[in-house]
Amino acid sequence: MTAAQTDTAGRYPENLYQAVQKAAAFVRDRLDGRQPVLGLILGSGLGDFADRLSDAIAIDYAEIPGFPASTVVGHAGRLVVGTIEGVCCIAMQGRVHMYEGLSARVATLPVRTLISLGAGTLIITNAAGGMHSEWQPGTLMLITDHINLMSDHPLRGPNDERLGPRFPDMTRAYDPVLRDRAGDVAARIGVHLERGIYIGLGGPTYETPAEIRMLRAMGGDAVGMSTVPEVIAARHMNARVLGISCITNQAAGITGEVLCHDEVTETAARIRAVFERLLRAIIAELRAELSPFDRPENQLDEE
Ligand code: HPA
Repeated sequence: MTAAQTDTAGRYPENLYQAVQKAAAFVRDRLDGRQPVLGLILGSGLGDFADRLSDAIAIDYAEIPGFPASTVVGHAGRLVVGTIEGVCCIAMQGRVHMYEGLSARVATLPVRTLISLGAGTLIITNAAGGMHSEWQPGTLMLITDHINLMSDHPLRGPNDERLGPRFPDMTRAYDPVLRDRAGDVAARIGVHLERGIYIGLGGPTYETPAEIRMLRAMGGDAVGMSTVPEVIAARHMNARVLGISCITNQAAGITGEVLCHDEVTETAARIRAVFERLLRAIIAELRAELSPFDRPENQLDEE
């Protein structure tokens, strides 16, 4: 491996396609016939939802070949596969972030594995800072689009056409149909949903007030340190994405208070019941239309 091929973590799955296949095969062997059709990525403090899945099995990331381990408090770091509202889901209970020292390419191996296992629709959630003074902590925001200000890109490096195209379209990164459905469901069950643009930064520092002013001027509504690489990898593989941010705090400089991770996890814990109700209702709404994603690689010979 030459220096140019080495990622920031000193690891570079030269053949990403094979890395995904290997991880997916390992997980598939443990599923006892369960066939996930919906992927869930549960952000900071939101991971408890995976405990609601019935007839579930859990696999620690550390066991799965090639999977990076999650090191952040509030992120359990395991895959949970089970059923809720009649839908077989595969949930990432906790995610990995680039600030843990991973390249975007490595950090998105888990989401690619979910998709390869059949989860062609993903609900990606996160904790985020809100950039509107009217948005109280605990507000939920449907992500309509994102701005990528992260320092690495999950598709940097050689492209494997079996995973997706070299230059994927990002016009409808957050599926407009899923967004409408989620909006209708939220209105029906009386959960208030804001809509807005998520800006992804590398972290792990929170932003300065000056940076927040810049991000607002750019058109952002919420800011966080995840999601963007996962959505890019998902769109690369042609999966559909619904994104939901839990506004856990007002972004730096909006209130004059200092920011801390405890506030993030505490707010997420406080709105857990509402978040769970919304997620359940969205999953029930989508039930009839979900079927295993037929990825082209599953029809090809094993390498
Ligand atoms: N900034 C960045 N990431 C975050 C924040 C924030 O204010 N809150 C939760 N994740």
